[in-house]
Amino acid sequence: MRILFVCLGNICRSPTAEGVLRAKLEQAGLAARVQVDSAGTSDWHVGKPADSRTRQAAQRRGYDFSSLRSRQVQVTDFTEFDLILAMDQHNLADLQQLQPAHGKAELDLFLRRYQLAVDEVPDPYYGGEYGFEQVLDLIEQASERLLSEIKERL
Ligand code: 4NP
Repeated sequence: MRILFVCLGNICRSPTAEGVLRAKLEQAGLAARVQVDSAGTSDWHVGKPADSRTRQAAQRRGYDFSSLRSRQVQVTDFTEFDLILAMDQHNLADLQQLQPAHGKAELDLFLRRYQLAVDEVPDPYYGGEYGFEQVLDLIEQASERLLSEIKERL
């Protein structure tokens, strides 16, 4: 199974989702059976590590995002991944525009799929420290439900 998380810059929200799901899969002994990646709809931060505030917030909860690097979504992602999960409605609309007719990937809004209290992961980039904690809170909750779906589908 192959899962791609997508946000705007691929330095805050989608790398958080990638890192959190990877950690949960490792804990569950499923890391070898699920491929996880993340990408941005923009090319603004290509090649850069996750935002330092994202890495610090993650480190405080025991995650290590130091190996992650930003990349932009590609048309080939729609054939290489089974599930593409967008962080907000804008990301989802951009993905729908890019989606080729033959793409097999299922597109969805990450939090809406798992019926969290909110549909979107708020963009923390221009805000304060709290935003990065909120991103982690939402993503940890949704990832737990995604892990249950993965277990059912494997
Ligand atoms: P992300 O956050 O989409 O969660 O990675 C952002 C990162 C960078 C910018 C905006 C959002 N930016 O404007 O550069």
